[in-house]
Amino acid sequence: MKRFAVFGHPVAHSLSPRIHAAFAAQCGIALEYTAIDATPEDFETTVAAFARAGGRGANVTLPHKAAAAALCTRLTARAQAAGAVNTLLRTDDGWDGDNTDGIGLVRDLTGRQRMDLRGRRTLLLGAGGAARGVAPALLDAGIGALVVANRTAANAEALIAAIAGDAPTAACALVALPAQGAFDVIVNATSAARGEGMPALPASLVHAQTVAVDLGYGASAAPFLHWAQQAGIGACIDGLGMLVEQAAESFRLWHGTHPATDPVYRELYTDRRGAARA
Ligand code: ATR
Repeated sequence: MKRFAVFGHPVAHSLSPRIHAAFAAQCGIALEYTAIDATPEDFETTVAAFARAGGRGANVTLPHKAAAAALCTRLTARAQAAGAVNTLLRTDDGWDGDNTDGIGLVRDLTGRQRMDLRGRRTLLLGAGGAARGVAPALLDAGIGALVVANRTAANAEALIAAIAGDAPTAACALVALPAQGAFDVIVNATSAARGEGMPALPASLVHAQTVAVDLGYGASAAPFLHWAQQAGIGACIDGLGMLVEQAAESFRLWHGTHPATDPVYRELYTDRRGAARA
């Protein structure tokens, strides 16, 4: 049995085991995929033990994505650009690291949500690991301009300095957002909902067709999407579709076949709606 896992802390809530089991069943691949809780102090030794036990690949979630990048022998260009790894692939000489978050987001937006990102003036809130994971993919998707706004302006400036693209880019502090005008797409990649809560955002960011996207789902997406609804945004998208798409890209890297994502997304979406009503 091929062994796979997701490493996180906490990780019990992770939907990844369920998603990968569904993909494996669909593709007729026998595998074991478990959730492994590792503290930051234990991450490296836990991954090494997993490799010794025959681990062939792993997903990595909070708070280990930067640490995962540090233990890889090789990184793909997109993992290097992100400075963060969410997918590990075992090779003869260690781990290869990739980051499928960005392509997962873009596939969800352009495929499932039928958005045309080309030319869209885009605001990315946050400049941590999650923001670095998706910024290069947004530029690759042809957005018209990218503004990265962050609580700490210097981190937004560092992100902008690290990425390259054809579109104009800019960095600013969250407090400077009122001067930025309106955006076609606003992506929340801050971890504010896991901590102190979303900062106040100006209504001037929004026009009649603005789309709001949160990279999280469930409770972690709620504060930003609530603000978006209050600000009059009709199209509010959470990160459930991105989660399924990034998993599918990891699955393709490990198994050489891209699973159908819609049935898995629909199952998770229906379950969640049922749970919300219960
Ligand atoms: P992740 O891997 O989820 O991106 P991270 O790398 O710790 O986590 O980055 C968290 C991001 O959320 C950062 O951009 C952080 O802003 P700072 O660079 O100023 O720390 C942002 N963030 C966290 N809490 C926030 C809050 N209460 N309000 C606004 N931004 C916040």
